[in-house]
Amino acid sequence: MKMLEIKGGNPLTGTIRISGAKNSVVALIPAAILSSEEVTICNVPDITDTTALCEILEFLNVDVKRATESLVINPSNMENKEIPSMYTKKLRASYYFMGAMLGKYKKVTMALPGGCSIGARPINLHLKGFEALGATVTNKENIYTVEAKELKGANIYLDFASVGATINIMLASVLAKGTTIIDNAAKEPEIVNVATLLNNMGAKIRGAGTSSIEITGVEKLGKCFHEVIPDRIEAGTYVILGAAIGNNLKISNIIPEHIEALTSKLEEMGVFLDIGTDYIIVSSGKDYKPVNVKTQTYPGFATDLQQPLTPLLTMCNGRSKIEETIYENRFMHIPYLNQMGADIRVKNQTSTIIGPTKLTGTDVVATDLRAGASLVIAGLMAKGTTKITNVEHILRGYENIVEKLLGVGANLELKDI
Ligand code: EPU
Repeated sequence: MKMLEIKGGNPLTGTIRISGAKNSVVALIPAAILSSEEVTICNVPDITDTTALCEILEFLNVDVKRATESLVINPSNMENKEIPSMYTKKLRASYYFMGAMLGKYKKVTMALPGGCSIGARPINLHLKGFEALGATVTNKENIYTVEAKELKGANIYLDFASVGATINIMLASVLAKGTTIIDNAAKEPEIVNVATLLNNMGAKIRGAGTSSIEITGVEKLGKCFHEVIPDRIEAGTYVILGAAIGNNLKISNIIPEHIEALTSKLEEMGVFLDIGTDYIIVSSGKDYKPVNVKTQTYPGFATDLQQPLTPLLTMCNGRSKIEETIYENRFMHIPYLNQMGADIRVKNQTSTIIGPTKLTGTDVVATDLRAGASLVIAGLMAKGTTKITNVEHILRGYENIVEKLLGVGANLELKDI
């Protein structure tokens, strides 16, 4: 077990370089097995979610080589085996093997995925999509088998624009017969990144990034080279941190358009941002105005950034509100922020942050990945020492977080306990 000890209060200055996107790479790695030849993915973040997916690849006898920032995946000797829960439970995205292996072998058997406990997180839309393509789904003691004699293109309307279901249906349909249309598809940049990988491998996907995606099945997919987009949630987390305690803190290697919903909220608060083509420079300001935020699917305000935003809102003069519309249990950071001196109430999926309040360090627990990021920001803002346990959640999604923060003047240490 690991613990993060933070001595707060240091202003942060210098540059933080953003890594490849977790939520892209976790889909790109399973997608690569659809190829019959070698696939090279570069700008791969060194996070534990990547390691967990590589372990699944190795279990399936896929050859994986890791270079500094890239992964070379060769599935030519891959075997179709049941993936047990010791592999799938480590992360949510293990469910992308369902779509990819169904697409490749027309049969997949695997245990339920894991992931952060931030809500019920059913996979009914993924399964309905597979069924529409001609598959049958059976679930015996949480082991799913999805199989089809033949996968045939279909028109699929998603009741909710789910990121996971959109990607999984794309993965299952690229090698299917005929054309699949996904309507009310999710529009997140990670979906475009996955569609680009598949197209580079020889797939025929049009419309990724819009709410209607058309996939025309092809016979075979092959060799390709592909780059992971910058992580917009990691970028947003550090921009928020800069608005709290930055002194010309530069967040580099980003696509600013991907976090426009966040930057326009920060500007509404009174944060001054210097937004360049691939960077943002941000400093802490005074007299921040309170704001109201509602989480939505892309391009709306990302649910993954509402927890990191919360400690910053304790600096605002007045009441800010965050309404969480995507997950029903994404407020587990709040009791800890209150222990640190915040005044936050949660009612009906909305948190009300009454500011300004000062934060003081104490012992807290990272209950999930973004709750952990929220507590890191709070700890860096606070007076005194904050000790965060369950840091493993944070390491799932933030590459070199300790080194990156030390590099801009933070005082923190990761300890084994
Ligand atoms: N939903 C269903 N049925 C389904 C699928 C989803 O009801 O079959 C519901 C979910 O319960 C949730 C909502 O739809 O209430 C959104 O789920 P979605 O499928 O869009 O999310 P996801 O694919 O499970 C990904 C990211 C999340 C991120 C969401 C929303 C990955 C591995 N995870 O999850 O990232 O919050 O999209 O943008 O890509 C994180 O990085 O901390 C994280 C949780």
